[in-house]
Amino acid sequence: MRKAVMGLVAAVFVGVAAMGLYLTLQKPDQPLSPAMVNADVSTIGGPFTLTDQTGKRVTSAELIKGPTLIYFGYTFCPDVCPVDVTVMADAVDLLAEKGLDVTPIFITVDPARDDPESMASYVEAMHPKMVGLTGTEAEIKQAADAYKVYYQRVNTPESQAGYLMNHTSFTYFVTPDGVKAVFRDGFPPEEMAGAIARMLNR
Ligand code: NI
Repeated sequence: MRKAVMGLVAAVFVGVAAMGLYLTLQKPDQPLSPAMVNADVSTIGGPFTLTDQTGKRVTSAELIKGPTLIYFGYTFCPDVCPVDVTVMADAVDLLAEKGLDVTPIFITVDPARDDPESMASYVEAMHPKMVGLTGTEAEIKQAADAYKVYYQRVNTPESQAGYLMNHTSFTYFVTPDGVKAVFRDGFPPEEMAGAIARMLNR
């Protein structure tokens, strides 16, 4: 009897924990205001110099000449990045249909593995206009810090890749004036394109 009660308590506890996780993973349909990523908009973003997928050194000023979407991830990412980068590519296409030219940029948080060649095959598969950026560990950290991106190597000896990267997965809408909006992962591309078009008064 006592064992049964303990079992019930344990089951309820697991149920409540699962519900909490479920609620945490719920994605709102609205763009996050910059305040919701725990930072004022004026403190997000900043200059960087990195290496593009052709091996050329490029500055953020050279790249962000107009409306731009930026995502930090890595090419080995098994699940989240491919979805988020596809959303970014789809949003760029939807905005092009509205006559809005937006440049998608993918910045790696795994420069040890993501050399320009890996970045080239990744971005070419994702979108013809996508720019892929890598750099030294210090350069990537500087760019990630500027955008308040958290990333951390997680060793997974059982996997072939050897390690994964934990990382925040926000998509940043940026113009030459700075960061204008931050989108949570799982955001629908139609909603992202709509929100950006409104910000560009279209
Ligand atoms: Ni990822």
